[in-house]
Amino acid sequence: MEGQLEPRIDKILISEAEIQRRVGELAAEISRDYKGRTPTLVSILKGGIIVLTDLMRRLTVLHEIDFMSVSSYDSGTETTGVVRILADLSRNIEGKDVLIVEDIVDSGLTLDYIRHMLLARRPKSLKICTMLDKKARRQVEVPIDYIGFEIPNEFVIGYGLDYKEKYRNLPYVAILVPNE
Ligand code: IMP
Repeated sequence: MEGQLEPRIDKILISEAEIQRRVGELAAEISRDYKGRTPTLVSILKGGIIVLTDLMRRLTVLHEIDFMSVSSYDSGTETTGVVRILADLSRNIEGKDVLIVEDIVDSGLTLDYIRHMLLARRPKSLKICTMLDKKARRQVEVPIDYIGFEIPNEFVIGYGLDYKEKYRNLPYVAILVPNE
């Protein structure tokens, strides 16, 4: 029955404890870097929400949050290279310190597109934080300021990342082998 066919989780790549420790370190670093400022954390839906909510609760600087929804992937495991804006930010970011908070940077196409679009709105600064960096797959260079973990070229799920919209809730990051 659909819904009962579980893909195989091949290997836990990053444990919950490792993720939480790293989130704490990133939050400390970001809090230091933005001391005295009030950054706007921009999360890219849907995958970015988990890292955003973990990170923001550990920040010691005042901050605001906003969301953007884009589509760059099909429901499977391969990139289409197409970036479509499904929902835009709710507030103007001109003159603001903006920090994009992402779950993963893969080809970099999505982030490159979003970065240029946001830069055109003239923020005071624009930085990028990603929990996972799949560097081997990069097609365009994107400057990343805060990286949680560099990971190998495998399709992963958990901690915000999905396979056909499922498994975002897993507190760890695992390599997925589709059971098909
Ligand atoms: P990029 O444009 O290729 O960098 O892709 C960015 C988006 O692709 C991410 O925000 C994810 O939604 C998705 N993605 C990339 N790699 C993975 C993966 O290993 N598992 C799940 N989603 C992924």
